[in-house]
Amino acid sequence: MIMMLLGAPGAGKGTQAQKLVDKFGIPQISTGDLLRQNVREGTALGAEAKRYMDAGKLAPDDLIIRMMDDRLGKDDCAKGFILDGFPRTVPQADALLGLLKKRGLALDHVLSFEVPEAELMARLTGRRTCPACNSMYHVTANPPRKEGLCDKCGGVLIERSDDNDATISNRLKVYRDQTAPLKDFYGRNGLLCEVTASPGATPDMVFETALAIIGRKG
Ligand code: AP5
Repeated sequence: MIMMLLGAPGAGKGTQAQKLVDKFGIPQISTGDLLRQNVREGTALGAEAKRYMDAGKLAPDDLIIRMMDDRLGKDDCAKGFILDGFPRTVPQADALLGLLKKRGLALDHVLSFEVPEAELMARLTGRRTCPACNSMYHVTANPPRKEGLCDKCGGVLIERSDDNDATISNRLKVYRDQTAPLKDFYGRNGLLCEVTASPGATPDMVFETALAIIGRKG
């Protein structure tokens, strides 16, 4: 099964992807996580991407497409995967068609998580992540059992460097201008399903809605 998760920064793509990984046993492929891994490892790709990420802008399409071509060729993708944060532009969506076609694959589900902008800012400024295992928390909506420490692996939780007010505003604008048009792109071929993830819908409630859509479409 090949799933794509769309949605603005903070819409809950990563949170839902982790639940889908546990449910279906296929990997989450997050371009944001791959870029942050490259930054941590000090690669040339990471150095180039960091400039864009710190400014809340998108990294260049050709860099992202090359990285994804490499990632989709790994053995763990054989039974399917969950795309989180890719594609983010129409050229990336066009390139994905080619990357799938050359492997004889096709998308099964495109889920777009819809959350009002006012809620997104609160989610991102309160987010805490574990750099060791990528688990996600929120200081009020989903706090860890022990403050500052990951429930799963005990790692020290951090705030992402792009989760500050100015960078978040840029990321939201970039989403509106460059990524939201993908909803039309996938709506035209009948793949898009919108999932309302508004305030009051807990991660578990959103997940139930997502599973119902996946089950309904087979
Ligand atoms: P990326 O890492 O992909 O970040 P993003 O798209 O901005 O999305 P986020 O990870 O911030 O949010 P999310 O939707 O995953 O929400 P989450 O589940 O964490 O990209 C970072 C940067 O990398 C980009 O700005 C760009 O520079 C670059 N990049 C990445 N991909 C690229 C590409 N394809 N092309 C070019 N550049 C690229 O949840 C957020 C918080 O809310 C958490 O605290 C969580 O606990 C909480 N939460 C989740 N669900 C709920 C709920 N239902 N109720 C209450 N709280 C909730």
